[in-house]
Amino acid sequence: MERLQKVIAHSGIASRRKSEELIVEGKVKVNGVIVKELGTKVGPNDTVEVEGIKVEREEKVYFLLYKPRGVISAVRDDKDRKVVTDFFPHIQERIYPVGRLDYDTSGLLVMTNDGEFSNLLTHPKYEIDKSYIAKIKGIPTRQELTKLQRGIKLEDGMTAPAKVKFISADRSKITCIVELTIREGRNRQVRRMFEALGFPVMKLRRERFGTLTLKGLNAGEARELTPHEVKQLRTLAQTGQFVTLYSKSKPI
Ligand code: URA
Repeated sequence: MERLQKVIAHSGIASRRKSEELIVEGKVKVNGVIVKELGTKVGPNDTVEVEGIKVEREEKVYFLLYKPRGVISAVRDDKDRKVVTDFFPHIQERIYPVGRLDYDTSGLLVMTNDGEFSNLLTHPKYEIDKSYIAKIKGIPTRQELTKLQRGIKLEDGMTAPAKVKFISADRSKITCIVELTIREGRNRQVRRMFEALGFPVMKLRRERFGTLTLKGLNAGEARELTPHEVKQLRTLAQTGQFVTLYSKSKPI
Protein backbone atom coordinates (compact mmCIF):
# COMPACT_ATOMS: atom_id res chain seq x y z
CA MET A 1 0.00 0.00 0.00
CA GLU A 2 1.23 3.50 -0.84
CA ARG A 3 0.18 6.94 0.28
CA LEU A 4 -2.22 8.57 -2.16
CA GLN A 5 -0.15 11.74 -2.63
CA LYS A 6 2.90 9.58 -3.44
CA VAL A 7 1.00 7.64 -6.10
CA ILE A 8 -0.14 10.89 -7.74
CA ALA A 9 3.31 12.48 -7.54
CA HIS A 10 4.97 9.34 -8.95
CA SER A 11 2.68 9.38 -11.94
CA GLY A 12 4.22 12.75 -12.85
CA ILE A 13 0.87 14.59 -12.75
CA ALA A 14 2.00 16.93 -9.99
CA SER A 15 4.69 17.50 -7.38
CA ARG A 16 4.21 15.94 -3.93
CA ARG A 17 3.01 19.28 -2.49
CA LYS A 18 0.61 19.93 -5.39
CA SER A 19 -0.71 16.37 -5.07
CA GLU A 20 -1.57 17.07 -1.44
CA GLU A 21 -3.39 20.23 -2.45
CA LEU A 22 -5.38 18.34 -5.09
CA ILE A 23 -6.45 15.80 -2.47
CA VAL A 24 -7.47 18.42 0.10
CA GLU A 25 -9.37 20.34 -2.58
CA GLY A 26 -11.47 17.23 -3.28
CA LYS A 27 -10.14 16.72 -6.81
CA VAL A 28 -9.02 13.14 -6.24
CA LYS A 29 -11.17 10.01 -6.33
CA VAL A 30 -10.26 6.51 -5.17
CA ASN A 31 -12.46 3.82 -6.69
CA GLY A 32 -14.93 6.52 -7.71
CA VAL A 33 -15.20 8.15 -4.27
CA ILE A 34 -13.73 11.58 -3.42
CA VAL A 35 -10.99 11.25 -0.81
CA LYS A 36 -9.73 14.32 1.07
CA GLU A 37 -7.65 12.53 3.73
CA LEU A 38 -3.92 12.98 3.15
CA GLY A 39 -2.98 9.79 4.97
CA THR A 40 -5.11 7.55 2.74
CA LYS A 41 -3.29 4.49 1.44
CA VAL A 42 -4.05 2.77 -1.83
CA GLY A 43 -3.10 -0.63 -3.21
CA PRO A 44 -2.14 -1.65 -6.74
CA ASN A 45 -5.75 -2.58 -7.63
CA ASP A 46 -7.33 0.69 -6.47
CA THR A 47 -8.31 3.13 -9.21
CA VAL A 48 -7.09 6.68 -8.64
CA GLU A 49 -8.45 9.62 -10.63
CA VAL A 50 -7.27 13.24 -10.54
CA GLU A 51 -9.76 15.74 -11.91
CA GLY A 52 -11.47 12.92 -13.78
CA ILE A 53 -8.27 11.53 -15.32
CA LYS A 54 -7.16 8.04 -14.36
CA VAL A 55 -3.68 7.84 -12.86
CA GLU A 56 -1.61 5.22 -14.66
CA ARG A 57 0.21 3.03 -12.21
CA GLU A 58 2.42 0.72 -14.16
CA GLU A 59 5.69 -0.39 -12.63
CA LYS A 60 8.43 2.20 -13.05
CA VAL A 61 11.15 1.22 -15.50
CA TYR A 62 14.41 2.97 -16.39
CA PHE A 63 16.64 2.48 -19.40
CA LEU A 64 19.71 3.97 -20.98
CA LEU A 65 19.71 4.12 -24.78
CA TYR A 66 22.69 4.86 -27.00
CA LYS A 67 20.67 6.84 -29.53
CA PRO A 68 22.10 6.68 -33.03
CA ARG A 69 22.10 9.71 -35.31
CA GLY A 70 19.02 10.06 -37.51
CA VAL A 71 16.50 9.19 -34.80
CA ILE A 72 13.84 11.47 -33.27
CA SER A 73 13.78 11.84 -29.47
CA ALA A 74 10.04 11.22 -29.27
CA VAL A 75 7.58 8.35 -28.94
CA ARG A 76 6.08 8.90 -32.41
CA ASP A 77 6.73 10.97 -35.49
CA ASP A 78 4.11 12.24 -37.91
CA LYS A 79 6.61 11.89 -40.78
CA ASP A 80 7.20 8.23 -39.84
CA ARG A 81 10.88 8.66 -39.10
CA LYS A 82 12.60 6.35 -36.63
CA VAL A 83 11.91 7.30 -32.99
CA VAL A 84 13.70 6.33 -29.79
CA THR A 85 10.92 3.98 -28.61
CA ASP A 86 11.52 1.84 -31.74
CA PHE A 87 14.57 0.49 -29.88
CA PHE A 88 12.31 -1.04 -27.19
CA PRO A 89 9.94 -3.31 -29.13
CA HIS A 90 9.44 -5.72 -26.21
CA ILE A 91 8.79 -3.14 -23.51
CA GLN A 92 5.11 -2.95 -22.52
CA GLU A 93 5.43 0.13 -20.30
CA ARG A 94 4.86 3.50 -21.96
CA ILE A 95 8.36 4.87 -21.76
CA TYR A 96 9.50 8.20 -23.16
CA PRO A 97 12.82 10.07 -23.37
CA VAL A 98 14.05 12.23 -20.50
CA GLY A 99 14.83 15.46 -22.33
CA ARG A 100 15.93 15.17 -25.92
CA LEU A 101 18.84 14.89 -28.28
CA ASP A 102 18.69 16.44 -31.76
CA TYR A 103 17.89 14.21 -34.72
CA ASP A 104 21.56 14.41 -35.78
CA THR A 105 23.05 13.99 -32.30
CA SER A 106 23.91 10.52 -31.05
CA GLY A 107 24.52 9.43 -27.49
CA LEU A 108 23.13 8.82 -24.09
CA LEU A 109 19.43 9.17 -23.51
CA VAL A 110 17.57 8.04 -20.40
CA MET A 111 14.13 6.53 -21.05
CA THR A 112 11.49 5.94 -18.39
CA ASN A 113 7.79 5.95 -17.55
CA ASP A 114 8.50 7.69 -14.23
CA GLY A 115 7.26 11.26 -14.60
CA GLU A 116 8.61 12.45 -11.27
CA PHE A 117 12.09 11.13 -12.09
CA SER A 118 11.96 12.70 -15.53
CA ASN A 119 10.94 16.09 -14.09
CA LEU A 120 13.73 15.90 -11.57
CA LEU A 121 16.36 15.23 -14.23
CA THR A 122 15.20 17.89 -16.66
CA HIS A 123 14.23 20.68 -14.28
CA PRO A 124 16.63 23.64 -14.80
CA LYS A 125 16.85 24.02 -11.03
CA TYR A 126 18.59 20.66 -10.63
CA GLU A 127 21.07 20.97 -13.49
CA ILE A 128 22.53 17.53 -14.06
CA ASP A 129 25.83 17.91 -15.91
CA LYS A 130 26.14 16.36 -19.33
CA SER A 131 29.28 15.82 -21.42
CA TYR A 132 29.30 16.05 -25.18
CA ILE A 133 32.02 15.09 -27.64
CA ALA A 134 31.94 17.43 -30.61
CA LYS A 135 33.80 17.18 -33.89
CA ILE A 136 34.09 20.72 -35.12
CA LYS A 137 35.19 22.43 -38.31
CA GLY A 138 38.24 24.55 -37.53
CA ILE A 139 40.67 24.59 -34.62
CA PRO A 140 39.85 27.04 -31.82
CA THR A 141 42.55 28.72 -29.79
CA ARG A 142 42.85 28.31 -26.05
CA GLN A 143 41.36 31.81 -25.60
CA GLU A 144 38.35 30.86 -27.70
CA LEU A 145 37.75 27.72 -25.68
CA THR A 146 38.04 29.76 -22.49
CA LYS A 147 35.11 31.86 -23.76
CA LEU A 148 32.98 28.71 -23.91
CA GLN A 149 34.09 27.85 -20.41
CA ARG A 150 33.19 31.25 -18.97
CA GLY A 151 29.89 31.61 -20.79
CA ILE A 152 29.05 32.81 -24.25
CA LYS A 153 26.27 35.05 -25.51
CA LEU A 154 23.52 33.24 -27.40
CA GLU A 155 20.27 34.74 -28.67
CA ASP A 156 18.50 33.40 -25.54
CA GLY A 157 21.10 34.83 -23.15
CA MET A 158 24.51 34.02 -21.70
CA THR A 159 25.37 30.38 -21.12
CA ALA A 160 26.36 29.24 -17.63
CA PRO A 161 30.00 28.30 -16.95
CA ALA A 162 30.96 25.05 -18.66
CA LYS A 163 33.92 22.68 -18.75
CA VAL A 164 35.96 22.34 -21.90
CA LYS A 165 38.57 19.73 -22.74
CA PHE A 166 40.50 19.79 -25.99
CA ILE A 167 40.89 16.19 -27.13
CA SER A 168 42.62 16.18 -30.51
CA ALA A 169 43.11 18.06 -33.78
CA ASP A 170 43.47 16.95 -37.37
CA ARG A 171 45.55 19.75 -38.86
CA SER A 172 45.35 18.40 -42.42
CA LYS A 173 41.53 18.37 -42.39
CA ILE A 174 41.33 21.41 -40.08
CA THR A 175 38.93 19.75 -37.67
CA CYS A 176 39.15 18.93 -34.01
CA ILE A 177 37.48 17.05 -31.20
CA VAL A 178 36.43 18.88 -28.05
CA GLU A 179 34.62 17.66 -24.95
CA LEU A 180 32.13 20.16 -23.55
CA THR A 181 30.36 19.63 -20.24
CA ILE A 182 27.30 21.78 -19.55
CA ARG A 183 24.63 21.85 -16.89
CA GLU A 184 21.94 23.62 -18.84
CA GLY A 185 19.76 21.97 -21.45
CA ARG A 186 18.72 24.63 -23.92
CA ASN A 187 17.66 23.73 -27.41
CA ARG A 188 20.68 22.83 -29.62
CA GLN A 189 22.85 24.44 -26.99
CA VAL A 190 26.18 22.76 -27.74
CA ARG A 191 25.89 23.36 -31.49
CA ARG A 192 24.92 26.99 -30.88
CA MET A 193 27.81 27.55 -28.44
CA PHE A 194 30.40 26.40 -30.99
CA GLU A 195 28.66 28.24 -33.83
CA ALA A 196 28.72 31.46 -31.77
CA LEU A 197 32.52 31.14 -31.75
CA GLY A 198 32.56 30.52 -35.51
CA PHE A 199 33.08 26.74 -35.43
CA PRO A 200 30.29 24.63 -36.93
CA VAL A 201 29.68 21.25 -35.27
CA MET A 202 30.11 18.41 -37.74
CA LYS A 203 29.21 15.57 -35.35
CA LEU A 204 27.93 15.51 -31.81
CA ARG A 205 27.59 12.74 -29.27
CA ARG A 206 26.39 12.89 -25.65
CA GLU A 207 28.88 10.79 -23.76
CA ARG A 208 27.75 11.28 -20.19
CA PHE A 209 24.61 12.22 -18.27
CA GLY A 210 25.40 12.79 -14.57
CA THR A 211 26.85 9.52 -13.34
CA LEU A 212 25.87 7.53 -16.44
CA THR A 213 28.15 6.87 -19.41
CA LEU A 214 27.85 4.96 -22.68
CA LYS A 215 30.35 2.35 -21.50
CA GLY A 216 29.68 -1.11 -22.95
CA LEU A 217 27.03 0.02 -25.46
CA ASN A 218 27.10 0.50 -29.21
CA ALA A 219 24.82 2.88 -31.09
CA GLY A 220 21.28 1.49 -31.11
CA GLU A 221 21.78 -0.60 -27.96
CA ALA A 222 19.99 -0.10 -24.65
CA ARG A 223 20.20 -1.49 -21.16
CA GLU A 224 18.17 -1.22 -17.99
CA LEU A 225 19.49 1.09 -15.28
CA THR A 226 20.28 -0.57 -11.96
CA PRO A 227 18.35 0.58 -8.88
CA HIS A 228 21.66 2.00 -7.63
CA GLU A 229 22.08 4.11 -10.78
CA VAL A 230 18.53 5.45 -10.48
CA LYS A 231 19.16 6.35 -6.86
CA GLN A 232 22.50 7.99 -7.69
CA LEU A 233 20.88 10.18 -10.36
CA ARG A 234 18.11 11.23 -7.97
CA THR A 235 20.67 12.18 -5.34
CA LEU A 236 22.78 14.01 -7.88
CA ALA A 237 19.83 16.10 -9.05
CA GLN A 238 18.75 16.85 -5.50
CA THR A 239 22.19 17.83 -4.22
CA GLY A 240 23.30 19.63 -7.40
CA GLN A 241 26.75 18.06 -7.35
CA PHE A 242 28.96 18.41 -10.39
CA VAL A 243 30.36 15.07 -11.54
CA THR A 244 33.99 15.50 -12.52
CA LEU A 245 34.32 12.25 -14.35
CA TYR A 246 35.67 12.41 -17.86
CA SER A 247 34.96 9.43 -20.00
CA LYS A 248 37.54 7.91 -22.32
CA SER A 249 36.19 8.93 -25.67
CA LYS A 250 35.83 6.59 -28.60
CA PRO A 251 36.42 8.10 -32.07
CA ILE A 252 33.43 10.18 -33.07
N1 URA B 1 23.22 20.30 -27.62
C1 URA B 1 22.96 20.23 -28.94
O1 URA B 1 23.34 21.11 -29.69
N2 URA B 1 22.29 19.17 -29.39
C2 URA B 1 21.87 18.15 -28.62
O2 URA B 1 21.25 17.20 -29.10
C3 URA B 1 22.14 18.23 -27.25
C4 URA B 1 22.82 19.32 -26.77
